[in-house]
Amino acid sequence: MTKNIPVFEEPTDFGHQEYPAALVLVTNACNLRCRHCFVYREGTPNDPRDKISDEVFLYQLEKLRDKHKIRSMLFMGGEPMIKSALVFEAMKLFHQSSIVTNGTYGIPSVPGHLVTVSLDGPRAYNDSIRGDGVFDKVKQAVHNRQPDGTTVMLQMTLTRGNAPAMEAFVEEVHDWPIDGIAFTFFVPQVDQHDELSWDDLRERDKVIERLIRLKKTYPIIKANVEALRMMYSDRCLKATGLRGENCSMKKMLPLYIGDGGSFERTFCCYGNNVDCSRCGAYAVFNNAVS
Ligand SMILES: C[S@@+](CC[C@H](N)C(=O)[O-])C[C@H]1O[C@@H](n2cnc3c(N)ncnc32)[C@H](O)[C@@H]1O
Ligand code: SF4
Ligand code: SF4
Repeated sequence: MTKNIPVFEEPTDFGHQEYPAALVLVTNACNLRCRHCFVYREGTPNDPRDKISDEVFLYQLEKLRDKHKIRSMLFMGGEPMIKSALVFEAMKLFHQSSIVTNGTYGIPSVPGHLVTVSLDGPRAYNDSIRGDGVFDKVKQAVHNRQPDGTTVMLQMTLTRGNAPAMEAFVEEVHDWPIDGIAFTFFVPQVDQHDELSWDDLRERDKVIERLIRLKKTYPIIKANVEALRMMYSDRCLKATGLRGENCSMKKMLPLYIGDGGSFERTFCCYGNNVDCSRCGAYAVFNNAVS
């Protein structure tokens, strides 16, 4: 008797370009609904009903790895730890992997890898963005972990609303059992003008100056001062372009889960309809100076 070998659907055709780095949404589901989140915007694939089975996910990721020569994969979502077993399995496919998590399911133990845990300010600020009780839950998870060779960084996404609390945040978390504190800045949608976004980037410049000063006092802040200077309003377009034409992140393959459960690529890692002229993604500026 012949054994039935499952036939999996082939991944979406993303052309033949090489992408040494990619990111993948493991799931469109998330237990939080943060106010600033680029995933849950209209026009970006985010329907939690659009699922890929674990087998197909692993099969297609391996195929895409080989076709596009992907070496490094960033696992995110939604909340990737909702599908933690799948993440741990998929990590084996890549030379280098990292995870970005909201930390509410505990801190994953992945020795030799980077886990970035998102917190957006001290308790009151964080919880007004991420939801009541989230700060304390994440604090407990970070303190409960045993040293295991996992590199754990906290990341605060600075918006116009929470930037006043940047110093208080560092003061509060600098002695937690972590390997570093990272900052990135808000990436707005086109036409987004609200309490999160800076309309006049000269206002954001003042936050960048404060961050550079803060880093001198707290070396645990992992930021390249040259990269931060590249974010200043009089030069940031050199790294981004008005529509991402200068942006190094365009070289990264963003794998979102689109209609009916097939991989779909978005304009960039930050989804669709983003305003590159006001982009605050730290990695863009760090790549531009390195
Ligand atoms: C989209 S989340 C997915 C992973 C996980 N759920 C988490 O919150 O870390 C990844 C990171 O993007 C950040 N982020 C969300 N919306 C953003 C935006 N509009 N601009 C810049 N960063 C953003 C989050 O704060 C988080 O650090
Ligand atoms: S936890 Fe992450 S994915 Fe979920 S809403 Fe917040 S930023 Fe978005
Ligand atoms: S929004 Fe930022 S990361 Fe995305 S393409 Fe534009 S400049 Fe690059």
